Amino acid sequence: MTRTVVRACRRRFLSAVGQSGIAAWVGQALPLAGCGRGDGGVVAGPSSPADATRSLRLPPTIGGGELSAAPSRQEVWAGSATALWTLGATYPSPTIRVRSGDFLSVRLQNRLPEATNIHWHGLTAPPEMDGFPTDVVPPGGARDYRFRVMERAGTYWYHPHPDRRTGPQVYAGIAGFLIVEDEEERRLALPSGPFDVPLLIQDRRLTADRSFAYGPTAMDVFTGYLGDTVLVNGTPEASLAVARGLYRLRLLNGSNARVYRLAFTDGRRFHVIATDGGLLDQPVEAGTVDLGPGERVELLVDFSLAAAGSTVVLKSLPFAGTGGMGGTGSQGIELTVLRLEVTSSSGPAAPIPSSLGRIERLDPSRAVRVKTFAFGMGMGPMMMGGFTINGRPFDPLRIDARVSLGEAEIWEIRNVSQEIHPFHVHATQFQVLSRSGRAGLGPQDLGWKDTVLTWPGETVRIILRFEEYPGLYVLHCHNLEPEDAGMMSAFEVA
Ligand code: C2O
Ligand code: CU
Repeated sequence: MTRTVVRACRRRFLSAVGQSGIAAWVGQALPLAGCGRGDGGVVAGPSSPADATRSLRLPPTIGGGELSAAPSRQEVWAGSATALWTLGATYPSPTIRVRSGDFLSVRLQNRLPEATNIHWHGLTAPPEMDGFPTDVVPPGGARDYRFRVMERAGTYWYHPHPDRRTGPQVYAGIAGFLIVEDEEERRLALPSGPFDVPLLIQDRRLTADRSFAYGPTAMDVFTGYLGDTVLVNGTPEASLAVARGLYRLRLLNGSNARVYRLAFTDGRRFHVIATDGGLLDQPVEAGTVDLGPGERVELLVDFSLAAAGSTVVLKSLPFAGTGGMGGTGSQGIELTVLRLEVTSSSGPAAPIPSSLGRIERLDPSRAVRVKTFAFGMGMGPMMMGGFTINGRPFDPLRIDARVSLGEAEIWEIRNVSQEIHPFHVHATQFQVLSRSGRAGLGPQDLGWKDTVLTWPGETVRIILRFEEYPGLYVLHCHNLEPEDAGMMSAFEVA
């Protein structure tokens, strides 16, 4: 089996080289050294305690315009230049803010050594603007993305989506927030300005010289590529000074494969006010929230009673229930995400609103049909070809499902494997009806969603309706290595 894995890994690597002409940063990141022998060459463990605590970076905010995708070096760790791929020359990529009803207009310049594109995760874009995996911009090329944003206010995001190369490109540094604002939200007078904080959570493995090591072994492809160093907005060991007041934290799990079970170390509770597709109808009080790759939640967290000078830590708690392999690189380990250092100044004391947005509940009794999507991974010698939905790996030229505009359908997402699969569908938002798992629905499952975590063996039922554009879109696992290895399906809206 080991021999098979090594060979499969090398084949995969060679075909990637053939496709892309190999990238500068990938050369640094030991793509082959990692194959078939554990972490070969990768330095395990978080950065040394000699690093001063770093204050949280905030990506620049823009309204659109030209963004260049290019290799670049950034000072992720003080005093060392980390080789990245960036969009807009920053890591994370700039935060795009738009008002609902306005046009999003971005020109992508591709200065990478391989093809790329942009997917606007959570927005319903016309098919030719959606970043279909084979609809890519070649090296040296450019592409205008322009469409009207019709979504409710919320925390969306954008990232590359090229066929088989989404994992490495996101890992190399390309991902940013896309924040939509609207009137309904403005009337709530939620905490704003410095009290409205976007938090992009990503985990990384590091090379000895503190670049990002991306070289999935066959086993890494199986579980998704997991790191042991958490970066928030590209900041290692991130800390944020908070006033004694109410904060709106917008959490985005932009990790390739890691699931976070988020909680504060002092046990403080918070209110979940929004999920992937914007505001809930009312705040939901909680003490922990699970966030799978691709998902977002927004929290209101009240520090008004915290002691000045105290530190509250946002952690990911340990959990079981995935296959994993044990050890620091595995799913479910405890991790520090963000340290919140309470200052003596006071912040907004606004009460938590008792109601938030209006959500039209889709009625299951009016769904016209049920579709089933089984996410599976084959074991044995065929493992590399075994990342499938309904038994088939992705073929961009094959249409696996058809839906009619305006018709509600129930989809049963069946995880028939030993690992987690965050199910993501383009071109609409859905509602979660049920989970077969013991835990039932969590606060992150309420409201509108575009990504939902499925646990090993679990079936999650969702209801959805496509309303805007006919055309070809994809649904897939948002665990990026399985996605790149084939866990994706093309479907047509007609
Ligand atoms: Cu965030 Cu199709 O992906
Ligand atoms: Cu998956």
